[in-house]
Formats: sequence, C-alpha cells, structure tokens
Amino acid sequence: MPHYGDYQNAIYIAGLSGTVPEWPVDHVTLRARAEAHWPAAVRDYVQGGCGDEHTQDANAAAFRHWGMIPRMMVDTGTRDLSCTLFGHPLPSPLFMAPIGVNGICTDDGHGDLAAAHASAATGVPFCASTLGNDPLEDVRAACGETPALFQLYTSRDPDVAASIVARAEAAGYGALVVTLDTWVTGWRPRDLNTGNFPQLRGHVLANYFTDPAFRALLARPPEEDRQAAIMTWAATFGRVLTWEDMAWLRSLTRMPIVLKGICHPDDARRAIDAGADGIYVSNHGGRQANGGIAAIDLLPGVAQAVAGRVPVLFDSGVRSGTDMVKAIALGADLVGLGRPYCYGLALGGADGCAHVLRSVLAEADLLMAVNGWPTLAAVRDAGARRT
Ligand code: FNR
Repeated sequence: MPHYGDYQNAIYIAGLSGTVPEWPVDHVTLRARAEAHWPAAVRDYVQGGCGDEHTQDANAAAFRHWGMIPRMMVDTGTRDLSCTLFGHPLPSPLFMAPIGVNGICTDDGHGDLAAAHASAATGVPFCASTLGNDPLEDVRAACGETPALFQLYTSRDPDVAASIVARAEAAGYGALVVTLDTWVTGWRPRDLNTGNFPQLRGHVLANYFTDPAFRALLARPPEEDRQAAIMTWAATFGRVLTWEDMAWLRSLTRMPIVLKGICHPDDARRAIDAGADGIYVSNHGGRQANGGIAAIDLLPGVAQAVAGRVPVLFDSGVRSGTDMVKAIALGADLVGLGRPYCYGLALGGADGCAHVLRSVLAEADLLMAVNGWPTLAAVRDAGARRT
C-alpha cells in the first residue's frame, strides 16, 4: 500500500544520482525563496497581517507549546489517513485554505488554476476563494475528481451573492464556506505603507466581472469601463452577517454551509443551532484582527463544544505535517494549509504547490508511523499536551 511517507524514499533515491528536490521541503527555506521571488507588492500582501502581526506570529509559534507522547510496539506498517467530509471520501484530512490572491501568486496570473491542478494531482481539496483571477467554474473543472469547496465573501447586493452561490453549486463544489470576519479589511500596515490593495487595482475580481447579477449593476461592462466596475465591487463588497442571516444563506443553496472564523465555543454552539453544517476555526491567519489568541489554542474549546455533531475545520499557523497532526490531536477533522501552499505556487506553479502538499503529508505520515498512530483515530486518542 502506498504511503505519503514514500515521498521521502523518492527524494533519497533521486539523491543517489545527484538529483535534489527542485523546491525545499522545509517551511523556512520555502518561505525565504518565495519572498525573494515575488514582487514586493505580492510579498507584502501575502505575508502581511493585522497591526504589529502579533496574532499572526502567535498562530504559528503556539504549535510549539503543544506536544505529543509516542506509543511503542504498535504496528504502524500500514497507515490510513483517510476521512470523509459531507459524505465525500478524502485520502487525508489536509485541504488548501481559501486565499484570495492565489491568482497573482504565480508568474502567469493563474494561481487559482494552478492550485486546482495541484488539488487534482494530490487529492487534497482546494477551497476556492470568491476572489480569484479565473472564474469559479474553470477552477472547479481544474480540480478534476478531487472534491472542492467554495468560499463566499457575501456581497451586500443579495442578487450578486445569490448568483455566485448558485454558480458554485452548479459548478459542483461540495460545500459553501462562508467567511464571517471580513466585511471590512483589517488594519494591515505593510499594505498601508505602500498604499497597496490588490482588488482596487483590479486583481482577483474575475468571479464578479463574469457574474450576470454583478454585471447588471454596471452601466457599462468591465471590458469597457474597468474602473467603474472596480468601484462597484468596492461599494458592494462585504455584507455584515448576523445570526438572522442564516436562514437567508440556507435558502440560497443545498450545499452544506461551513462558517469560517468561529473561535468561541458559544459561537460554535449557536452556529450549529442555527443550522451550520460545519465549523471552521480560524482567525484568518492574523490578517483581520490583532490582539487575539493563537487559533490552535482555541481549537480544543471549540471542538469540545461541537462534540462531533458537525465537522470541525481548522486553519491559521499550520506550517508542517507535524502541525497538521497536532491539529487533528486537538480536535480538527480537517486541517487547512494557508500561506505555505502559496509559496509552492510562487516557486513552481501547480507542481510546486503539489510538492508542498506532498511534503506536509509525508511528514505527517512519517510522524504517525514513528509514534505508533496508524490512524487518525489513534492520533485523536493520543491527544496533545500543553507543554
Ligand atoms: C487569506 N485568507 C482568506 N480567507 C478567506 O476566507 N477568503 C480569502 O479570500 C482569503 N484570502 C487570503 C489571502 C491571503 C494572502 C492570506 C494569507 C490569507 C485566510 C486563509 O483562508 C487562512 O485563514 C489563513 O491563510 C491561515 O493563516 P496561515 O496559516 O496562512 O498563516
């Protein structure tokens, strides 16, 4: 039976004939190479966070104060990382978190398609953002057989929101991820100091510009008056959602609805009571609000409140396969990789992205092999301790 850890063997065997991996397998080197590769505006937008970036830094650092205890004399010769999400079988609990500037992360401006191709190649689901350089239909098609999720930034114009959701459902996305923390943009000094906000420069708006309901708001189509279309986008972006909107969201789609940005156990309980099909623990990688608690430290409380009633998705600060396993141990059903896969996109497009996903999965698989956890259930039983 093939294992994700086999990626390690392939690297060592290639090394015998002098071939080393085209891209680094460790996060620090990968990040440094992506930062050197990108134009400054893309680098700062991807890497930047809110305020002095304390929450952003804490997200990743906090994984270090969680530790796991290995078990010995367990047969881990065969590992099984498979799981399901809303009835779809998945080979592992890893997925790609929605990143609204994937489009400009690759040199060719088609990073969403590259991420989708990496998803098709690896079986790691891609959560496509509303913000993209390619229409959501094309992105879904590029994901191939791998299930995909669609992340909604809810337009203030209800017809535009409904239209985009209907398109996502028709295109075959398996779940709607509604982001709750981004009706305004957080205070991001790196971008403010350079006066750079990609969307206002016309980037990553393909889903709006191709949308019939959005186009109906315009006096002239975006192909003729791009600036007016951008300004209409800015004027209609970001509906403030409250619990009362759940019924409306539900009326838009038969897709399972996942609420992204839930950090408090009471919000998780309320979301389930309001009909949410999944809870997504995330603080947006520290980009939206500073002064928060690292997301991984909040995961156990939310998972306890959810108590297995719906799947718990998690992101913010995941940098390695070890982090992925810790998130499972602390209650996540699915673990979202964020910035690291953008680094792979930057350096090698779809192949670079797939390399990052394979590296994370190989590290996770080998950790499970060494530590006596042949399944995700065993990881959950083992748990993690705050050190
Ligand atoms: C994001 N994130 C995000 N989230 C979302 O729901 N829709 C989006 O369009 C975006 N766009 C976006 C752009 C960039 C450049 C980043 C870095 C992040 C948040 C994303 O889904 C996820 O929550 C974070 O990336 C997790 O933090 P780390 O692990 O990447 O630090």
